[in-house]
This record gives sequence, structure tokens and C-alpha cells, in this order.
Amino acid sequence: MARVLVLNGPNLNLLGAREPSVYGADTLADLEARCRAHGERLGVAVECVQSNHEGVLLDHLHAWGQHYRDRQAVGVVFNPGAYTHTSIALHDAIKGVAPMPVIEVHLSNVHAREPFRHHSWVAPVAAGSIIGFGVDGYLLALDALARRRAAGLST
Ligand code: DQA
Repeated sequence: MARVLVLNGPNLNLLGAREPSVYGADTLADLEARCRAHGERLGVAVECVQSNHEGVLLDHLHAWGQHYRDRQAVGVVFNPGAYTHTSIALHDAIKGVAPMPVIEVHLSNVHAREPFRHHSWVAPVAAGSIIGFGVDGYLLALDALARRRAAGLST
């Protein structure tokens, strides 16, 4: 079965406890369970990773770029957390694994928040961005990857 990585960045392990009025009540385990269940409906195997470390996120992107080239992977759903706004290294990594599609997801509407959240280094190199729909955004991103695959745009 084709594989998809759901990759969550720093502080997303605190979901459920962290600013629930902004990020909702679901825990990371709830989010990952919903992604896996949705993947089953779509016929893709969803694997989930969360890391608070930029280099670990880079390593996973590189590894999945290889899975994509090996025609085992469909793409990555990526919430880079605060690294979205700071990391040229993530920008370069996503460019480096092109044409594997990486879909940027944010739980909150970053454009309705502080100005420092308005810039994304990931957006220009992402296949697309889904912002402000909570956990549903991850499911929409999985839909988008499954549709790309069905349309022959990916493995
Ligand atoms: C976030 C938005 C980021 O600005 C923030 O640093 C996060 C979470 C979101 O999902 O809304 O950690 O990526």
C-alpha cells in the first residue's frame, strides 16, 4: 500500500494541553488516530512522526524523498510549527526532495494571529497550504494527496 507521512514539528506533542482555545482539545494521539483512520478509508498507509528537533524533521523529509523516488510514498503532510516562520533549512529540504509533494498544514489561522506568524518559509515550496481548519486540515491534505495519486500526479 502507498505510504504517506504525517509530520508534526515542535510543541505539537503538547496538543490538548497547549492553548486549547487556539489549537483545540484533541491530543496528538487523537490527531494521529484520525489521520490513520482517514488513510484507511483512502487506501493509503499513514505513518506519523512528531519531533521538536529541526534536524530530525530534515532527516525524515530526506528519507521520505527516497521512499517517493522508490515509488513507495505519495507525499508528506507537514505541520512545521514555529519552524514554519524561521527555517530556511526546511525550505531547502522540501526543494531538495522535489517533486515529492509536501502539503503544509496549520491548525490555527496563522494569518489572523501575530504578524511574526504571517510569513512561511515552507509555503513557497509546498504543493499547497491548508490553514485554520484544525485537525480537519490534515484530513483535507490526505484527500489532496490521494487525489493527486489517483490522477497520476504521484505514485
Ligand atoms: C501552528 C502555527 C505556528 O505559528 C505555531 O508556532 C505552532 C502551530 C499551527 O498548527 O497552527 O506551533 O503551526
